[in-house]
Amino acid sequence: MSESGFHYRNGIFHADAVDLNDVAQEYGTPSYVYSAGMIRDNIARLRTALGPDVLIAYACKANTNRAVLSIMASEGLGADVVSGGELRRAIAAGIPAEKIVFSGVGKTDGELRLAFDHDIAQINIESAAELERIVALNPARPVRVGFRLNPDVEANTHAKISTGHGESKFGMPSAEIRQLYKEIARYPMIRPTGISTHIGSQLTELEAYRDAFHALAALAGEVEVESLDFGGGLGIVYTDEQPVDVAGYAQLVHDILTPLGKKLTTEPGRYLVGNAGVLLARVIDMKKTPGKPILILDAGMNDLMRPAMYDAIHVMNPVTMNQNNDIICDVAGPVCESSDIFLRGWTMAEPARGDVMALMNAGAYGFSMAGTYNSRPLPAEILVDGDRHAVIRTRQDMDDIVKGETVPGWLG
Ligand SMILES: Cc1ncc(COP(=O)(O)O)c(C=O)c1O
Repeated sequence: MSESGFHYRNGIFHADAVDLNDVAQEYGTPSYVYSAGMIRDNIARLRTALGPDVLIAYACKANTNRAVLSIMASEGLGADVVSGGELRRAIAAGIPAEKIVFSGVGKTDGELRLAFDHDIAQINIESAAELERIVALNPARPVRVGFRLNPDVEANTHAKISTGHGESKFGMPSAEIRQLYKEIARYPMIRPTGISTHIGSQLTELEAYRDAFHALAALAGEVEVESLDFGGGLGIVYTDEQPVDVAGYAQLVHDILTPLGKKLTTEPGRYLVGNAGVLLARVIDMKKTPGKPILILDAGMNDLMRPAMYDAIHVMNPVTMNQNNDIICDVAGPVCESSDIFLRGWTMAEPARGDVMALMNAGAYGFSMAGTYNSRPLPAEILVDGDRHAVIRTRQDMDDIVKGETVPGWLG
């Protein structure tokens, strides 16, 4: 039995049983590498804590690769999607429509029609205006909707991923949902099946969940619902965070939500895939400066945006350990932005040009947020499963980058 996940074996960093130097050699860098075993372990841990009756609807936005989605499908998970594109991907990967919920603050008419056509489990609506639009679209069969509650709780996380406070653009106050319920009987094609909420991502404290669950339960006592969707947000360890203890989280669910006797759904993204991926990059150069040296990688902020966007820290492991003296350096990418810095004041055994590095915990919101800024092709994605490995998305080339660009004839 080989160990799943990322670990050193004889001084070489491995994903499951696969040597990551070999992966870099075969597929090039920068490349995302995911461990299928770790994804399955994460699912099993959450499922064991929550019990078989809670539907785990994977928040696809964290990592939408088809192979990753097909692991979710074969493990019996549902999906939380936030666009027509994600809905199509989830269906194509084999996730049944009756396990798909559609969240998001700005669903277009086309995306709503797509959800009607697939008869998905529930559309989580965000406003009275969205409800009006669904009615006006005149669906051919009844549409199951959930109302997204904004419980007005502060989740102690980065401001850019906090979604459940009163001023955020997400959800509706409970008074507004109660009012909409009074009017809903006017619309025979709308079936109000549930209430949903989601208060933020990378949550490390149970208190915010407790407040949100109580708000959900209070509203469920006032309006008639079949299901409660209590969102995602479970944090993971990037550096020294104390993430939410899954057993404590499950206990809250069992104490506050289970007694209500409704169908329960959770929407985790990061928790299932975050620690199951690394971004492999090669050292381009060590730039000497009057201050600290700067280690320059061939991966940049376009490949992994989280440090530039959320001040996130992805610790870095050399794929080959060496016995050189320690240096203190900044670790940067090649993109022409001062924010293209992965790590500041990083201590490591001095690497050499060409060495392969692994930026850790990059499985969630890594590739799915990547772009082609500076005309940099999107990286490859590789899946490792025990001793097997395969490309699950090929590296882009220049043709991919310029595809669709045209020069109008009048420019000559
Ligand atoms: C509605 C909704 N559900 C679930 C998630 C997943 O969050 P996480 O990846 O932190 O579990 C998000 C992320 O922003 C979200 O907006």
